This record gives sequence, structure tokens and C-alpha cells, in this order.
Amino acid sequence: MGSDAPLLTVEELSVVFHGRGSDEVRAVDGVSFTLEEGRVTGLVGESGCGKSVTSLALMGLLPDRGVRVGGSAVMRLPEGPVNLLGLSARRMRDLRGSRLAMIFQDPLSSLNPVVPIGRQVTEILRRHRGMRGSAAEREAADLLYRVGIPDPRRRLREYPHQLSGGMRQRALIAMAVACRPRVMIADEPTTALDVTIQAQILELLKDLVTEEGTALLMITHDLGVVAGLCDDINVLYAGRAVERAPRAPLFAEPTHPYTVGLLGSIPRLDAPRGEPLTPIRGSVNDNIAWSQGCAFAPRCDHYTLECLQGPPVLAPVGAAAGVEGAAARTAATGRAAAADGGHVHRCVNPLRAGGASDRTAPEGPAAVGEDEEERG
Ligand SMILES: Nc1ncnc2c1ncn2[C@@H]1O[C@H](COP(=O)(O)OP(=O)(O)OP(=O)(O)O)[C@@H](O)[C@H]1O
Ligand code: SF4
Ligand SMILES: [Mg+2]
Repeated sequence: MGSDAPLLTVEELSVVFHGRGSDEVRAVDGVSFTLEEGRVTGLVGESGCGKSVTSLALMGLLPDRGVRVGGSAVMRLPEGPVNLLGLSARRMRDLRGSRLAMIFQDPLSSLNPVVPIGRQVTEILRRHRGMRGSAAEREAADLLYRVGIPDPRRRLREYPHQLSGGMRQRALIAMAVACRPRVMIADEPTTALDVTIQAQILELLKDLVTEEGTALLMITHDLGVVAGLCDDINVLYAGRAVERAPRAPLFAEPTHPYTVGLLGSIPRLDAPRGEPLTPIRGSVNDNIAWSQGCAFAPRCDHYTLECLQGPPVLAPVGAAAGVEGAAARTAATGRAAAADGGHVHRCVNPLRAGGASDRTAPEGPAAVGEDEEERG
């Protein structure tokens, strides 16, 4: 593998929870993406679409029982490539830190409650960067300052419970950045923070990517964060990527109705006064199973009967898309995607620039949901 190969290559990742006596939950259903040196890759989508489960699978932090993980996540290391999904708990622990770090969505469960913040940060600097004594303390204070924690020297002596929720989140971000990891996963790192601190944290993450060449996986439902930070974007819906593109084409020419809906539901400063937002109808719970067709169909204004004839395949924008059925067709579209500047979508009636579909839905879209209810 050459040095310009991705630092992490995720292929067909799937995570299925199968608790005793309950139905299976297909939380992640064949997701593929790469993380490249010095680039930010975004995973975006509504609550419950599988963003956190994807990150926990990559970090080896899913429970041992009641879960099946499939696919591969190959990380490029100096000693050779390794599949993170097949590593022992011990090997995974060795990798976490300077190779692979994560900022969690829930900061409380990630800090040690009985150890002062300062010791937790300096321990990381000692282990991963060989720093000791006053040099480590200075660097720890500087890191806290850079994540917007005022009076950092005093805060270093305090315990996690003495910090507010937002400050704990910032301390965790400081600890993840302190490792200067090759690959960093940030799961909604700024959701709980006010906008000025959010901007400061995003700046810090950007510095880490440009100065250290870290490959960052940014998980968020905030398209403003995506627009400001991500180079490549994966839009997830019900556990599958429904559109993937570099930032510019995704924002300029989104083609999947779900992506268009997400973009249409963000408030715009230049919109005429009083113009209503256009939220996506229904909720993520209104899905059908991918095995039956497009999971988004019950919420989609552009569906046709073809959408219900099997799961749509991921196809390059501009090429004919279709539903799964011929394995050869899926493989062909997968290969073609690589040659298409990376803009792919999973939709049989994609939208053109401007939001118009090639075809018109024969019936009201609610009919899909109603059929489902009648069947259930
Ligand atoms: N331990 C578990 N057992 C069963 N189902 C789970 C478990 N953890 C997550 N899920 C399910 O997996 C799906 C994906 O959850 P996930 O936490 O990845 O969503 P998310 O995209 O991160 O959402 P949010 O934006 O709310 O954080 C959800 O339907 C969730 O209910
Ligand atoms: S047009 Fe069909 S395939 Fe495309 S998002 Fe709508 S329901 Fe899914
Ligand atoms: Mg989450």
C-alpha cells in the first residue's frame, strides 16, 4: 500500500443487534467509506441512522454479546495493514491513543471521576508524547486554554464533577487532541456547546487535520458543521449511505431526496422574512426495511413503484440507477462510482439540480406508509 492510500478503509460495515426475545436491529447495513490523511470525512444523518454505532464498531467498543459485526475496517499502520474489526481487545487498547482516538457523544462516561483533570491530561502526554513534569503541565494547561476553558491551571487541579457538562466535553476534546492521533473519530463533539466555543473547537480540529495530517471522521447532524469542516460527506439513512460526495457537489447538486430534504430544513440567513422551513415529513421510525425497497419511501415525495421492488443500489450520479437484483449490476455501479468524482447516490428517481425529479409519483407518497400500517 502506498503512502497516499487511505489511513482507514471501511468496507460493507454492518452491525446487527439481536437481543434475547426481541427482533434484530440492523443499525448499520453495509456502510463503506475511507479516511484519508489530512482530510475530514463527514457522517451525517438524523437521530438513529447508525452514526454512533458505526464509530463504536470502529473503536472496538460494542458489547461482546448480542451483536454481530460484518465487513472490514482496514487501518494502514507502519507495520502493515490491520483489520480493526478482527483485533483482540488488547491489541485494540494498544492502538487507541496515538493511532486511533475518539471524542464521545457522552462526556460523563469517558472521564475518570476520581482523578483530577490535570492528571488525566498529563498521563496522556506522558504515555503518547513522552512529556514529563512541568513541560507536561504547561502543555496540559495550553490544551485546556485552546479548547476554551478559562483559568486552565486551576481547572487542572479539579475533578470532573467540578466542571460543567460543556467544560467536561472540552476537557475530553483536549485529551483526544493531546494524543495527536493518526485517525480521530469525533461523535457530535460540539452539540452541547454554545456557538462561540463550538467555533473554537472546530478550529482546533481543523488545525489537528492540517498540521498533524490526522484523518478525521466527523459525525454530526449539523449541516453547518459539515459545510465548514468536511471535505467528503456521507449521508446516512436507516443504516445505509444514501448519498456520498465531496463537499462542493453535495451542497451545490444534491440528488437524493433525503439529502435535499436535510438541506431544505436548515434555516437560511438570506431567506425572505417569514419564509417557513420545509422539514422532512414523518420521522426515521417511518422506514420500511431495506430488503423491501427504499427505506426512505414512506417519507419521500418522489417515490414510484420501482422504489419498492428491492433496495436501490449505490450508483454514480448521472448513470442509470436501479434496484438490487442483479449482483453483476451492483458490482458494476460500485466500480463506476470510483470514476465519478466520488458523487454517488442510492435512488431510482434522483433529483436534478434545482430539485425536480425525472418522474412523478403516481400516487400520494403517504400511501406507502398507509399500506404499511394496514399490513401491520
Ligand atoms: N445496544 C443496542 N441495542 C439495540 N439497538 C441499539 C443499540 N445501540 C443502538 N441501537 C440502535 O441502533 C440504531 C442506531 O443508533 P445510533 O446510536 O448509531 O444512532 P445515531 O445516528 O448515533 O443517532 P443520534 O444522532 O441520536 O446520536 C438505533 O435504532 C438504535 O436504537
Ligand atoms: S425516489 Fe424512490 S428510491 Fe429515491 S429516495 Fe424516494 S423512495 Fe427512495
Ligand atoms: Mg449518536
